[in-house]
Amino acid sequence: MNIDLVNETKSDIKVEFVNEDSLKTHKNKKILKKAGFTAAQDSSCFLHEKALLICGVDSQKADDIRSACSVAIKCLKSASYKSASFAVNTKSIKAIIEGVILGGYEYNEYKTKPKKVNLKYIYLTTDDISGLKDKFSEAIIIAEATCFTRDIVNTIPHDLNPPSFAKLAKNLAKENGLKCEILDEKKLKKEKMNAMLAVGRASVHESKLIHLTYKPENPKKIISLVGKGLTYDSGGLSLKPGTSMVTMKMDKAGACAVLGMIKAASELKLDVEIHAFIGAVENMIGGDAYKPDDVLTSRNGMTIEVRNTDAEGRLVLADVLDYAQDKVKADAIFDFATLTGACMVALGQYTTGIMGHSHKLKHDISRAASASGELTGSLPFNRHLKKQLKSELADICNISNKPYGGAITAGLFLDKFIKDENKNKWMHFDIAGSAYTESPWDCNVYGGTGAGVRMICEYLKNI
Ligand code: BES
Ligand code: ZN
Ligand code: ZN
Repeated sequence: MNIDLVNETKSDIKVEFVNEDSLKTHKNKKILKKAGFTAAQDSSCFLHEKALLICGVDSQKADDIRSACSVAIKCLKSASYKSASFAVNTKSIKAIIEGVILGGYEYNEYKTKPKKVNLKYIYLTTDDISGLKDKFSEAIIIAEATCFTRDIVNTIPHDLNPPSFAKLAKNLAKENGLKCEILDEKKLKKEKMNAMLAVGRASVHESKLIHLTYKPENPKKIISLVGKGLTYDSGGLSLKPGTSMVTMKMDKAGACAVLGMIKAASELKLDVEIHAFIGAVENMIGGDAYKPDDVLTSRNGMTIEVRNTDAEGRLVLADVLDYAQDKVKADAIFDFATLTGACMVALGQYTTGIMGHSHKLKHDISRAASASGELTGSLPFNRHLKKQLKSELADICNISNKPYGGAITAGLFLDKFIKDENKNKWMHFDIAGSAYTESPWDCNVYGGTGAGVRMICEYLKNI
C-alpha cells in the first residue's frame, strides 16, 4: 500500500470521522440514521453511492482517531476500492498514519493464498503539505519500524532461532549503517556469562549476544536498550503446560522491539547514541538441560539458585545487563522483556509494566508512552518483596518464595544486576501482555504488536 501526502485529490472513496455532535448536522444524517449509525466509537458505515466511509469516534483525540482509522482501513481492505483518502491536519496526521499502517498490518508469510486486496493508494489530503511533511515522514518511519518488530515476533521458532536472529540483526546493521558485534558461545564463555549459557544449553541452536550501535556525530545522550530474545520458551525442564507453550515464539518480543527502536532512531537521524543489546537464546529440554536445583554463577560473580527453569528470561537478562553496563557508560539503560505472566494479572493484557528506582525517569517514560498511544503502569518496588528472592543455598533465587507480586519480584531480581552508579538510570519494561495479542485492539491485530517501539521513539525524540 502506498501512502502519500497530497493536496486535494481524486480518490475512489473518502473517509470521514464523525462524532455524536457532528452527526446531528451531517449532510447525510438521514441515510446514516436509516443505517442505524450512531457514531459509536469504532463503528463504521459505507455510503457507497456517495463514495464515503463514515467512521464513528468518541472525540477527535489521537487515541480515538487511531482506533477508528484501524477500523476504516480493515473495511477498505475488504471492499473493492483501489484508492481512499483521509483529510489530515497537524493534530491527526500521526494517528491516521498509525491507524492505516498498524491497523492495516497483516502477516501473510505462511499463507499460500493470502486474501487479495484491491486497495493500493492511501492519500492524506491537506492544504499545508510543507507544514506536515516532517510529521508525515516521521510517523511513517516509526510505524514501519513497529511493523518490522511485529514481523520478527511473528516469525516461527523454526525460522527464527538465535543464529538466524543474529543474521537478521547483521542485515539491519548493514542496511542502516549500524555497527554490529555478535558474541557466540565461545565468547560468552570467555565473558563468564554462565546464567545465559545455562538457559540455552539444551537447544540445538547456539546462543548469541547481539550488540548493535547507532552513533551519530555529536550525540546529546547515550542510551542502552537491552532485549530478552527467547526465540522459544518451552519452560525447560519446568516444562510449560501445552496450552501455555503456544505463543511462546513471542518470548523474543523484547529483543525484536529493541531492534525496531534502533532502526527507527537511525532512520530519524536522532542525536542520540543508541546501543541495542540482545540475548538470543532458546529454552529447551534435553539431557544437557539446566535443572531446577542447579546453582549458576553469573557474569557479575553472583550465584543463582535455579528453582524453576521457566524463569529463564531474568537469567539471560542478568548477564546481558551486566555486560551492557561494562561495555557502555550510558545515560539511561532500558530493558524490554516478556518476563512474567504476573504482569498481565497485575495490569491486564494491554499495559506495559514499568519498574525502576527513578521517579523522574518513570514520569518521563509514562508521558512519552501516553503521547505515543501506548499504555504503561508503574509497579512499585519495596523491601519486603525483595526478601522473597532470598536463597538458603546461593546468593539469590531465580523465583520468589511467595506467589504474589511476581512481576515486581522479577524486576527486583534484575535490580540485583544493576550497578549502584546505574540504579537511577535503569528502567525495566515488562511487555508480557502488551507485546502479543490473539484478538485485535486499538491499532493491533493478531500477533506481535510492536509494543515499546512507539513509546521509546517518542521518548528519544524529546531528548
Ligand atoms: N516468557 C514467560 C512469561 C510470559 C508468560 C510471557 C505468558 C508472555 C505470556 C516467562 O519466561 C515465564 O515463564 N515466567 C514465569 C515465571 C515464573 C516461573 C516465576 C511465569 O510468568 O509464569
Ligand atoms: Zn519462561
Ligand atoms: Zn520466557
